[in-house]
Order: sequence, then C-alpha cells, then structure tokens
Amino acid sequence: MRSQQLNLDQYDTDKIPNGLMSRYDVMFEPWVDEEMTLLELGIHRGGSLKLWRDYFRRGTIVGVDIKIPESHTPADRVLTFEGSQTDRAFLSQVANAGAPQGFDIIIDDASHIGEWTKTAFWHLFDNHLKPGGVYVIEDWPAGYWSDWPDGKELDLDKHLAQGPPVQLRSAGDGLWTRFMKRLRRKRPLACHSHGMVGFVKQLVDEQAAADVTRKSLRNEPGRSSKFESLLIGPSQVFVAKAKTAPGDSARATPDAPSTSETGPAGRSNTTS
Ligand SMILES: C[S@@+](CC[C@H](N)C(=O)[O-])C[C@H]1O[C@@H](n2cnc3c(N)ncnc32)[C@H](O)[C@@H]1O
Repeated sequence: MRSQQLNLDQYDTDKIPNGLMSRYDVMFEPWVDEEMTLLELGIHRGGSLKLWRDYFRRGTIVGVDIKIPESHTPADRVLTFEGSQTDRAFLSQVANAGAPQGFDIIIDDASHIGEWTKTAFWHLFDNHLKPGGVYVIEDWPAGYWSDWPDGKELDLDKHLAQGPPVQLRSAGDGLWTRFMKRLRRKRPLACHSHGMVGFVKQLVDEQAAADVTRKSLRNEPGRSSKFESLLIGPSQVFVAKAKTAPGDSARATPDAPSTSETGPAGRSNTTS
C-alpha cells in the first residue's frame, strides 16, 4: 500500500485522519509508478497536493481553488490555478495547461454543493478525463446535514420502515397475474435527493444507461453507460470511466458546454 510507505504525519490534509487513504491505496495502485496527471478541486492549505506529489512518484499534480491562500508556495511537479469549479471555460483552460491529453485521476474536494459538483463533474468527466480514468467525489454525505447549504437531514428509521406487504386475497390459478397487477401500481420508494446525495443518485441513473435507454425489457439499449463502474463508499464515490465511448456518446449531457471555452478565468501559478 503506497500510503504506508510515506510519513503521513507531514501532510496537512483531513484525508488522513478521516481514513480515506486505505480506499485510495486500492483504487490508485495502477498509477503509483506511472507518468500520470491528477487534478484536485479544492486546495485549502495545500496539504493534499503535497501528499499526491509524493504518492505518485512521476505524477504531475494540478490543483484548483476559488481562493489560493497567500501562504501557498509553488512546488516541483505541482501546478495551481485560482478559479471556481462552476466555471467550465476556466476548467478547460486548466486542463489544457496541465493535462492536454486528459487527466488520469480527478478528485473533487471543493464546495460539496450538489449543483456545483455536478457542473464540474460532467464537464471534466466528458471532456478532460481519460478513458479508464477515475473521478472521485469526496464528502458526498454532506447532503444529509441540515446545517449544510443544500443538505437536509433524514429520519432513517422512518425512511426505511416497511410498508404493508403486498397482500393476495386468494391463492391458486392466476395468483402470479394478480401479484404482478398489484406491483404495477408502481409506487416509488421514498428517496432522499438533496444536495450531494441527489447528485450521487443521478450517477446511479447514468450507470444504468443501457437499461434506462431501452425503456422496457423488450427493447434494445439505446446506449451503454459512460461509466465502467460506480463505487459508493462512506466518504468517497469512485466513478471509473468506460474504456470505450458509449455507442451513442455523441449525445451531449444537459450540462455539457455549448459555447466556446476561451477567455481568461482565474490566476495561474505554475512551476516546473
Ligand atoms: C475541504 S477544502 C480542500 C481540502 C484539501 N483538498 C485537502 O485535502 O487538504 C475545500 C476547498 O474548496 C474550496 N472551494 C470551495 N468552493 C469552491 C469552488 N466553487 N470552486 C473551487 N474551490 C472551491 C475552498 O476554498 C477550500 O479551500
């Protein structure tokens, strides 16, 4: 495990006390010795950028923050850019400067606001993440916190309570038909969908794109998913990008940019 080869005490990032490294070790293992590029949204005091620089021996590490602290000092193999994760033109400028071939890994540890995270995700995932790359969304459970700007608390016991079971008045011939008729009333299960939690649930829909687009069991899928896999952990969501584009990938996602991505947006602070 790569993180166990480092002195983790030297890095000022809550990823370590919050126990995120064990899952990162598993997911990032293929890139540890590769010439790779990683983008992290959300720099704070810069501790995680230093961690990733040491973690990936030959990696180029790119950081973005809406406000880079004055105390931040440039470092070898680390590029930083000031701007917002909601500014798609700015994000493309960052990508073109730091990873013109696309990023291998993107981590979103910035606002943890559902809509903003979604904007950055679809733009970066579609346009600036390599096929086979991994996009990580940290702290997605913020959507369950009542004191988070777009979060809302959930009464889990009530939420998971069992409704009355589907009752059949008589058994015998036709039982299966009657059972299916009752199920076809299609009442949805209760679903919490605020903030980051709602966004993650939309990712589930994309993972199921083949079945979403065939609409019924009788039809062929319209397209496959853009995702190879979706792994939801306690604090991190890992989205692995499919190695080949979905059959009908030409269709743009609702948030995909339609205008040119030029023009200055943000301050760049680079060293090499
Ligand atoms: C949790 S901290 C990042 C911590 C850092 N990744 C680490 O592990 O040490 C979140 C950062 O996201 C930045 N941020 C908040 N909203 C943002 C936005 N819309 N665009 C870019 N950065 C944002 C904040 O300024 C803050 O520095």
